[in-house]
Amino acid sequence: MYIGIDAGTSGLKAILVDEQQHVLADRTVRLSVQSPQSGWSEQDPEQWWKALLEALDGLKNDAPHAMAQVKGIGLSGQQHGAVLLDAHDQVLRPCILWNDVRSDEECLDFEESFPQSRAVCGNIAMPGFTAPKILWVRQHEPEIFKKIRHVLLPKAWLRFKLCGEKIEDMSDASGTLWLNVGQRRWSDAALNATGLDVNAMPRLCEGTDAAGTLSTTLTTRWGMERSPLIAGSAGDNAASAVGLGAVNTGDAFLSLGTSGVLWCTTDRFRPNTNSAIHAMCHALPHTWHQMGVTLSAASSLAWWAEINHCDVSTLLSELPDHIERPSRALFLPYLNGERTPYNDGHVRGAFLGLDRALHRAELTQAVLEGVAHSFRDALDGLHEAGSILQSADVIGGGSRSRLWISILASVLNLPLNRLSHGEQGGAFGAARLARLAVTHDTLSTICTPPLRAETLVPHPGLVEAYAQSQERYRAAYPLLRDISTADHGVPHHAGPHGHHYGHSYGRRTDH
Ligand code: XUL
Repeated sequence: MYIGIDAGTSGLKAILVDEQQHVLADRTVRLSVQSPQSGWSEQDPEQWWKALLEALDGLKNDAPHAMAQVKGIGLSGQQHGAVLLDAHDQVLRPCILWNDVRSDEECLDFEESFPQSRAVCGNIAMPGFTAPKILWVRQHEPEIFKKIRHVLLPKAWLRFKLCGEKIEDMSDASGTLWLNVGQRRWSDAALNATGLDVNAMPRLCEGTDAAGTLSTTLTTRWGMERSPLIAGSAGDNAASAVGLGAVNTGDAFLSLGTSGVLWCTTDRFRPNTNSAIHAMCHALPHTWHQMGVTLSAASSLAWWAEINHCDVSTLLSELPDHIERPSRALFLPYLNGERTPYNDGHVRGAFLGLDRALHRAELTQAVLEGVAHSFRDALDGLHEAGSILQSADVIGGGSRSRLWISILASVLNLPLNRLSHGEQGGAFGAARLARLAVTHDTLSTICTPPLRAETLVPHPGLVEAYAQSQERYRAAYPLLRDISTADHGVPHHAGPHGHHYGHSYGRRTDH
């Protein structure tokens, strides 16, 4: 028996998985996010800990016999968040989360003090990442900064609570900007640029390593016969990849969640920061990945449903089963800025081509297509970074719409797999990592692909039409950027590659 725990942003999910990889029990506890100021996003780590205890108490209640047999625990964690600990391992302030955008100035400071950061860390310094958050604390909360002795990511802190050791896996460590991603070790230069050194960092391990043993108190609390091992584990996207069997070079998945992720596993470190692609370690030894992130994926459709005072399923029911031609309207889903390919937190979205002849259904179609175009930008970024995808599994809330997957297949010109069962997300991958840490089974026996209901292939008639829409979609970005800029009073500065805006979080007072 293995436990997989996914410490997400809106909830913590725990599942109990048997030797045949069947999920025997699952519990989810909702979490809240605090936003004390615009653009801030924080959580009290104690909230996660209470949720974890509640979820595992629940599993014990639902399946006590299986719980007694647990041999391993794996964790999947929301990436990038900064848990700051003092000399007594006490939490110094609420965790600043991955979707907090307060540290835009500090991103520039970081890259100025460590000019090789993009090449070494594989990523543009973005406010989502950990290092700029610490620079923000140094600047704005110097008393707290002085007391920092350790910085842990969310799941490393949970591991610390479970077993008393400070350990982090390579996939999650890649989201800090302190990791030399190619060499899989902490970078002294990156840490120095933040006023820290390696003593503040947890010990590094691979996701499949054994990394801690559950404390005896908790072992007793959950009625387990032996103290289970804790796996090195993974950041949430890497854990999802393990859960989907995306473990070999070229394996890909597309997540149609609140935000959207296009993931591709790689056999080496292949950064492409010009298109704001993330290059990170996978949770498996000698394996890396690339990832494009679009900020408003399923949340674009949820927003459109809110505007229309109805639910998403009503909007989707107004659409035909098959699309004959692209919508006459074009939607740009930059409701909250965009990461890949622009790293632009200020640009805002639009409907273009509005016409009296248009009805709501055609605008809904435009929303689905606009999100698909944003994934196409991510796909092209992955291509530029050397990854050629053959197909991808589609997960996340939006994957319930077969039509959306088929639109995506034509826009991306890529066969896409619709899965049979609601997938268990990062928690399932975490349980697999627990098993690998305990049994050292081969990846090919454990990390098998999910059951697929069907493969939706690109529709020849639509591929060409969507390629033309993609050109219009791209041409609209610079205009929107300038208009959004005027609206917000925030000038942008050209990125290092002309049309790409490698760093949008401009130092406002410089202009
Ligand atoms: C990845 C990212 C998100 C978080 C969500 O870079 O910011 O996917 O991991 O938890």
